[in-house]
Amino acid sequence: MDQNELKRLVGQAAVKYVKPGEVLGVGTGSTVDCFIDALAASGIKPSACVSSSVRSTEKLRALGFEVVDLNDVERIGVYVDGADEINGDFEMIKGGGGALTREKIVASAADTFVCIADQSKLVKTLGRFPLPVEVIPMARGCVARALRALGAEPVERDFTTDNGCRILDCRNFMIEDPVRMEQTINAIPGVVTVGLFAARGADVLLLGTPEGVKTMEKTR
Ligand code: 5RP
Repeated sequence: MDQNELKRLVGQAAVKYVKPGEVLGVGTGSTVDCFIDALAASGIKPSACVSSSVRSTEKLRALGFEVVDLNDVERIGVYVDGADEINGDFEMIKGGGGALTREKIVASAADTFVCIADQSKLVKTLGRFPLPVEVIPMARGCVARALRALGAEPVERDFTTDNGCRILDCRNFMIEDPVRMEQTINAIPGVVTVGLFAARGADVLLLGTPEGVKTMEKTR
């Protein structure tokens, strides 16, 4: 089974978490694209979706889902999103697709975060995947210097986010204490968001393996 097949499997498995008539939060990425396709095929309709990117909004609308502004909803039941890396505590690196800030905002408004990932994303220590940091354009130089002082090797991505900002990808930066590092990087002036999702990690992990989808729930 290749990685795309595993992404399709977890995308399908996430459909059962969607409650008809409830507002659904939708992440971004190729695994989420599989989830949106599976949701459309299932016929299950959330009352509306709150999307984390222009990319997901366009796909949802093209398949007939209503997409509303986060400011117009009181509550999101479930948020479904992928990850670039996830550890045993369900802390994640996200933002490979550049949607980290909106993803973190929508995730923070959801009761339950369901992470869908193929098995290559499960790691012991976060950091082999370059950690994305979204920055205000005028601050990219000073933020890069602050990240270097923390031991990272930031490289600017050739990409502008949906928020009109830039991304620094931190290479060679293994993260032993994700909650602390999330706080530290978020406190650098000019940082919009770091792609560490540790203070608010996932609640459920649907992991695609050749033996099938493994469901794991966070014990709190
Ligand atoms: C986008 C993300 C994605 O969830 C992450 O990059 C995983 O993407 P994919 O499902 O394509 O592997 O954080 O900002």
